[in-house]
This record gives sequence, C-alpha cells and structure tokens, in this order.
Amino acid sequence: MEQPTKDWWRQAVVYQVYPRSFADSNGDGTGDLPGITSRVPHLTRLGVDAVWLSPFYPSALADGGYDVDDHRDVDPRIGTLEQFDELVATLHAAGLKLVVDIVPNHSSDRHPWFRAALAAGPGSPERERYVFRRGRGDDGELPPSDWTAAFGGPAWEPVGDGEWYLHLFTPEQPDWNWAHPDVREDHLETLRFWADRGVDGFRIDVAHALTKDLTEPLPTQAELATLLDGSHPLFDRDEVHDVYVEWRKLFDQYDPPRTAVAEAWVPAHRRARYASPDGLGQAFNFDLLRADFDAEAFRRTVTENLEFAADAGSSSTWVLSNHDVVRHASRYALPAGADQNAWLLSDGRYPRPDVEGGLRRARAATAFILALPGSTYLYQGEELGLAEVADLPAAALQDPTWLRSQGTEKGRDGCRVPLPWTAAGPSHGFGPGGSHLPQPAWFADVAVDRQDGVEGSTLEFYRQALAARRRLRTTEDLTWIPSGADVVAFSRPGGWTVLTNFGPDPVAVPAGELVLSSGPLAGGLVPQDTTVWVRA
Ligand code: NOJ
Repeated sequence: MEQPTKDWWRQAVVYQVYPRSFADSNGDGTGDLPGITSRVPHLTRLGVDAVWLSPFYPSALADGGYDVDDHRDVDPRIGTLEQFDELVATLHAAGLKLVVDIVPNHSSDRHPWFRAALAAGPGSPERERYVFRRGRGDDGELPPSDWTAAFGGPAWEPVGDGEWYLHLFTPEQPDWNWAHPDVREDHLETLRFWADRGVDGFRIDVAHALTKDLTEPLPTQAELATLLDGSHPLFDRDEVHDVYVEWRKLFDQYDPPRTAVAEAWVPAHRRARYASPDGLGQAFNFDLLRADFDAEAFRRTVTENLEFAADAGSSSTWVLSNHDVVRHASRYALPAGADQNAWLLSDGRYPRPDVEGGLRRARAATAFILALPGSTYLYQGEELGLAEVADLPAAALQDPTWLRSQGTEKGRDGCRVPLPWTAAGPSHGFGPGGSHLPQPAWFADVAVDRQDGVEGSTLEFYRQALAARRRLRTTEDLTWIPSGADVVAFSRPGGWTVLTNFGPDPVAVPAGELVLSSGPLAGGLVPQDTTVWVRA
C-alpha cells in the first residue's frame, strides 16, 4: 500500500545528496545541479522516494556551505536558479520529492545584514539582528563569556569596537537573533521562496539552537553542561517551538503540505515536540548512528524511538550515515567503542579496520533499518558500500574542524569525497575534470559501473532492498519476535518477518519465501552479521 500523497514522508526513503561531491557537469572539480539532474536515473533505478540536498546556496564554504550568504539563491559554482528549476522538474517527472536544507541558526559573515551590522556599529538596529554583546574588561577586550564553539575555539569573535558576536560554529557563521521580527520574517520568505519553486520539504539545520536567552550573568561553559530541559541559554529552549508553529502554518498553506525534519541534538524525550504535527512534523533520530553493531542496542533503540514517534504523532527516522559522521561501513569495521577520530588521525591504520566485516555489518544494518516502520535517510555513496576515505592528506582537508581544533580532530572530509561513477576516466566519472577532494585508487573497485548488474554487489543489494521495501511498507506496525540474545527479529503486517543475526552461531531462516538477504547464507542458515527478510 503506497502512502497517500500528504503522508508521503512517513515511510519515505530519502537520499541525501551533498551537492559539491555528487556529480560535476562542467569539470571544475565541484559537483553541481546539472550534474545531479543528469544522475536522476541512478536515483530512480535505486528506488528512493525523495532527495535531500545539502546546502547549494552562495557561500564562502567556511563550513561546507552551511555558511549561507544568500538563502534564496544558488552558488554560481553549483548552478543557477533556472538549473534548480530543471532539477525540480526532472525529479518530479521521475516521481521523486525534493527536500532542501534550511540553515536558520546562523548566516555567513558575508550576508548583507551581517555586513551592515558591522558597518553600523555598537547600539545600532542593524546589530540587533545578530547576537552582539559588549566584551568584559574596561575596553571590552575580553569575551562576554568563556563559551566554546562547536568546531573548537571561542564562541565569541571581537569586532574591534568593544563588541563581540556569538557564533556557535565557525566565526564565519554569526548566529541570528531570533527575537528579532526581521529574522523571523526573512526566514518565512525563504521557506515560501523554495516552497513556491516546488520544493516538497525542508531539513532544518541545528533546529534546537535558534532561540537563546542571554540574560546576564551568563553561565560559564562548565555550568552550561548542567542546564537541561529548557533551561539551557543556547539549546532546546521551549520558545523555539513558537518558531516552528509559525512555520507549520506556512507549510500547511501548500497542497500537499510541505514537510520538515528537524536536526535537533536533544535528549530523546525532548524530540517529540520537534516532531509534532503542529511543529516540524519529524525529527532525526541519530541513536542507531551512535550505537555499536549490537543486538541489544538495536532492539532498545528501535523500541524507544517507535514509542517517541508515536507519542509525537510522527513516524520515526532511521539514519546510519550522513555528511557529518564516519561512514557506517567503516564504523562497523572498527572494534566496538574505538576512537574514530584517533583512527582518522592515524590515516585509517590503527586500529586496523576489518573492511570485509565492516561492509557485511553495514549491509545487515541497512537491511534492518529499511525494514522498520518510519522513514530512512540514506547518504550518497552508501549504496556502493563506500568506506570512509581515512587517509586524506592534511593539505587537502577542508572541514573547519581540522584547523580550529589545531589538528587534533581530522573532521568530516573523509565521507565527502566525490563519488566514483566509473572505474576509469577522469575523477572516476564524477566529472570531466578533477575532484575537489582527492579520490583514492580503491574507488575504481567500488564505482557504480563496476557494481551495476553484478549479482551480490552492494549496489544491486540496495536496489533489491528498496524494491522489496515498496511491498513491505504497509501499516506502521511492528511486533518483536523473541529470539535470544544475539538475534533481533520482528514481524510486519502482510506476513513479513525480518531477522538479523548479530552472533557467531548461524540461525534458521524463518519460514516463508526468502525475499532479501544482506549477504550469502551459510548452509541454508543465517550467518553472523546478516539480515534476512522473509514473506510467509
Ligand atoms: C549541522 C550540519 O549537518 C553540519 O554539517 C554543519 O556543520 C552544522 N550543522 C552547522 O551548520
């Protein structure tokens, strides 16, 4: 049973495109909109329902495009508004929806309003749109507080006249003041702008950070950690939901209503409000992305999240990889609890990854989440079983994390390397020129053309799983089947049984027709690190 149009998002498979690294049409080494449009057949063949585009807006790329100069335009290196319209038309003609990223916590420091704020000086109305504060000390020479920014370094930047501005991320990403009506109105205009161009939904960046309480005295960084459940001055304040209630009214003016998913790093019990039908409607659940490949962790995470989603009147989301984390084929190749940053700093050498086992577990985990009720977010390249490019040389790194942590954190570039479409040719078919991050030689072995039509390849496994999921996607019910400590099994309406074996002992395939197996069976049994879907 396909979802009625209005509820298309509830059990959708959404494919995340990181535009600069997907496909490059003009050979400048940066992916672009015509490149994406040319690859829509790959997405339809894969069988996804929607595409989520990470930021493609004009940007100096201080944070991979999450530093937005103009939220209602396209970066000229990525394309034009006309090319955006062509992409929307091509996706819609292929039956795919489009979700775009909205970055409402901060602009870039090149945004005209931020430039105006700097020029206008202390006490001016222009500065009110951002979070400026006078520094401590006689001449304001000390930051207003000792807060640190997400990628390292202080969260306040001096502007040379005794005032400092707040940036939770890089200094090139000044935080908006959401108490200001101009900020609210401007974002409504941005949402309308894209919704009017045919965008079906929005992914809301750091959705829990918008509204802030900077009443003096400001708490110290150490005190911040103790302030939870609405009392934190920067994160997850109750007032943030007023913003989303306003947005929801806008979304509901469209037919079908525009959808939204919150990126909100909040405790699970606080997630429901972001996902409520009078708010954004859905929220990312990153719990599996942070869990080890472990039966108990998977079972518990699913149980909890299905309850949270039901309480919110939403559907759950399942994510194993995105542009911010080490790809799951590599995470599962490391021993449980391994320090991923230390592994990246060793160029992927220590601990030595179990590459084959990592891919086997990644496929089992993917088959597991694709069988769950709720929507699944896939990250470009995971359909090729791509591992993290862990040995990028320091000189090639672009993620601000690397420099701002003074080389102590390698950052996220290893999952953002442009995709290999062909084993041969310039930039492995990414485009007719180079690639803005260097591709490793092993990309040839996993390129799309190496896997296309090859039985047992990860690409064919994803295609098969997504096709079968169209039949499995019935109502949103799930019933656990008791099955011992190392095995997780559940049934879904329509006679489906799904079983993942996390343990060393092979187990029997449930009775019925074997529709999908994430890897080969062993003597007719389900071996370790394998998921099967069976239909009675
Ligand atoms: C979350 C995004 O996913 C990440 O890539 C970005 O760096 C931060 N938000 C800041 O916008």
